[in-house]
Amino acid sequence: MAVTTPLTAFRITGGRTFEQAQSVEIIDQLLLPHTIRWEQVSTIEEAFAAIKSMKIRGAPAIASLASLGIASELLTLLSGKSSPSFPAESLASATELLSLLLKQTAYLLTSRPTAVNLLEALSRIESAAKQTTEAGADGHQLARKVVDVAVGVWEEDRERNVAIGDNGARWILEKLEREGTIEKGEKINVLTVCNTGSLATSAYGTALGVITSLHHMGRLSHAYYAQTGPYQQGARLTSMELASLGIENTMVCDTAIGALLAEKRVHLFVAGADRIAANGDTANKISTYQISLLCSSPHPFSPNPPIPVLVAAPVTTLDLAMDSGRSIIIEQRPSWEACTVRGRVVEVDEMIKSGGKIEPAQEGVDVEVATVLVTPPNTRAWNPAFDVTPASLIAGIVTELGVAKKEQGAEYDLRSFVKAGK
Ligand code: MRU
Repeated sequence: MAVTTPLTAFRITGGRTFEQAQSVEIIDQLLLPHTIRWEQVSTIEEAFAAIKSMKIRGAPAIASLASLGIASELLTLLSGKSSPSFPAESLASATELLSLLLKQTAYLLTSRPTAVNLLEALSRIESAAKQTTEAGADGHQLARKVVDVAVGVWEEDRERNVAIGDNGARWILEKLEREGTIEKGEKINVLTVCNTGSLATSAYGTALGVITSLHHMGRLSHAYYAQTGPYQQGARLTSMELASLGIENTMVCDTAIGALLAEKRVHLFVAGADRIAANGDTANKISTYQISLLCSSPHPFSPNPPIPVLVAAPVTTLDLAMDSGRSIIIEQRPSWEACTVRGRVVEVDEMIKSGGKIEPAQEGVDVEVATVLVTPPNTRAWNPAFDVTPASLIAGIVTELGVAKKEQGAEYDLRSFVKAGK
């Protein structure tokens, strides 16, 4: 599909604000890159279902959607109507409204367990709601406060990501030039994994934001991205985003990363994060750990010295209450997701005849998207969605506050980093 404008996970149509629309639309990422279909989310249940089924994914994006789901229902309530979670009468009592709200935040938290951004956003909403109630607010004031905090989660994500991208791009260029790995002004090749762009956030992205900033600075030569099975976030989503940004790119099968690094010059591996413990251990999309290991240990034939691994994430992805990555809960996805692939139905014979060329789907025109089973029926698959990369393999952690570095030894002190940056 020839998409030329940057894709977004969220939109509000008709020149309205979120408050006016009392809802948001999300792009259905299960259908990308073959069909662009927008779906309206105006309730907590719709937000929950979209997160759970991965119609929307990416740590910051799911935190934003959960928050907007709450805000949508409370705006309905404030307009005098009942919403599915909040009957109109609940506005008459702040304590009643608070108790209904806490049930909904607990429910939303069960949608996906690994990304801490969801917990952070819901905790922020809960604290603001409790404080407002304790301060003697009425139901209207409480609902209004929660709407403001919830919308703030989405807005802050839009504002901070360019800073993350620029900080990361400057850090790697300065490091490579200082160490004499590249000449001054030389362009670099970057590898990434999963999808961490505007589809995974409220705009611009994190790891993909670093790549975008390098591109804007005129310092990016080529972006490689891992296919990222079994959900294919690289193949389906990062491919589209890089093309829409005009960035030279090549997909690499997950099984070919070792071969890539043995053969091609790669200067940086940049990954996003779902949760970063206080010592820098990082949970991110499955395969981030093994790619980081390969980066740290060059193949004897490789043109590469050890390749720096940079983790890019907002401060809300830091879980400062967690000492190390040992305690991170890793989401297990169902067997069937690993045993199937979803994609556009194509005529294989025609594709072979044309030498693998196939007409891109037209924007606005739906094509047939199907899920096919690639294993014998009922195959059992172990399907963790994330893995933990130890801090020892990570050269830098970039946030909107700057780049955290290891003080001494193999670990970070992210508690001090955040304290110093505030
Ligand atoms: O399972 P997903 O697609 O939600 O996993 C996404 C990732 O692992 C991303 O790298 C992470 O959430 C950061 S997105 C800016």
